[in-house]
Amino acid sequence: MTHSGQPSPLEARKCHPLTGRVRVPGDKSISHRSLILGALAVGETRISGLLEGEDVLNTANAMRALGARVERIDEKGGIVWSVRGTGTGGFATPAAPLDFGNSGTGCRLVMGAVAGCPITATFDGDSSLRSRPMRRILDPLELMGARVISQSDGGRLPLSLQGARDPLPIVYRTPVASAQIKSAVLLAGLSAPGVTTVIEQEASRDHTELMLKHFGASIVSVPDGAHGRKISLTGQPELHGAEVTVPADPSSAAFPIVAALIAAGSDIILTDVMTNPLRTGLFATLREMGASIEESETRSDAGEPMAQLRVRASKLRGVEVPAERAPSMIDEYLVLAVAAAFAEGTTTMHGLQELRVKESDRLEATAAMLRVNGVAVEIDGADLIIEGRGHVPGGGLVATHMDHRIAMSALVMGCASDAPVKVDDTAFIATSFPDFVPMMRRMGADFA
Ligand code: S3P
Repeated sequence: MTHSGQPSPLEARKCHPLTGRVRVPGDKSISHRSLILGALAVGETRISGLLEGEDVLNTANAMRALGARVERIDEKGGIVWSVRGTGTGGFATPAAPLDFGNSGTGCRLVMGAVAGCPITATFDGDSSLRSRPMRRILDPLELMGARVISQSDGGRLPLSLQGARDPLPIVYRTPVASAQIKSAVLLAGLSAPGVTTVIEQEASRDHTELMLKHFGASIVSVPDGAHGRKISLTGQPELHGAEVTVPADPSSAAFPIVAALIAAGSDIILTDVMTNPLRTGLFATLREMGASIEESETRSDAGEPMAQLRVRASKLRGVEVPAERAPSMIDEYLVLAVAAAFAEGTTTMHGLQELRVKESDRLEATAAMLRVNGVAVEIDGADLIIEGRGHVPGGGLVATHMDHRIAMSALVMGCASDAPVKVDDTAFIATSFPDFVPMMRRMGADFA
């Protein structure tokens, strides 16, 4: 699924207090994984709360193309996605290239799953995804026996990958903290005899590990060094279909949360927000800045904790954000930058080099988004320094660069800036949070 046609611009104006109780859509990371593990399992997997954003729908299509039966069923209790898998190593050669649209996660995780099957598949995506590095995934998969048959410049899409007939279990130290690299290796390791081990210097999100356990795999994760982990998966398990309930996505919740913090008088409630500690760096940082975010009704499902969050408009102050926090809030720096612009004082975010290889170069894009709206900002190597003045002049037009999170962050900024903030194209919001604009409007946002 790729975008075509006219861009859809939108303007956000200073709004009345935001109020209401909402459930943001299902977590994107867990949604991708539930479809992929369902497709690799034997029997039926039933998923409720799946994010029906374009990124995830592309993964669902890829699973169909690889031989799984994937159905969306409208049941009395709500929508359920049913997946009947092929069994580990059982993917079939797809008839056409797999199109992952804008999604690095879908593409990279499926590369791992394909690498453990004796088939060849071609991977493609939109121009944003075609510009992103894939070598970081292909390197370990080649060590396991997969072969890259054809590729574009420097291991970029479109590329064809031949999976290994007899994949080798490896011990792999990831060069950067990336759940996508870790997950690709583990998914390929499902077909390898023996133990596949991934060692990461900084722990990244562990949804793959938790879900593999839920589907019946034997997987052990232990601390390694000050912030790292060592994960060992025993290969060739019999994965069985499972029930998956997808909690609300904290990375999507981040947008209404920051909007409520900066729009005077706001008081909102977000239900079922996943609070896995490897995803909640933003909440910790916002609390250090003085944000009122209260958790209640905490519970957990299949190892994933969740809670209800009450967020009230707060006076924020600038803080230092340490580099080691980056993996737990890697997708949240854009919207954190908006909060920092409304805070009093300087916020310095350290160690943001990975932002350069996301859906866009988010380090440059964050600086540009703030500058064009009158905020003083500086990039120093991999650090971002924002001078918060307690208010944002606004009045700028923000270029979204095919990046959903730029569009949503800019619109959040416009909820409280002195003059309106415009974005050039909101179409990519549909990749992760299709209901963003109507949901924000229901809470009181003024988007025109
Ligand atoms: C994701 C991992 C992160 C994140 C992405 C989702 C995942 O990427 O940015 O949006 O679901 O595994 P990296 O693993 O490359 O940091």
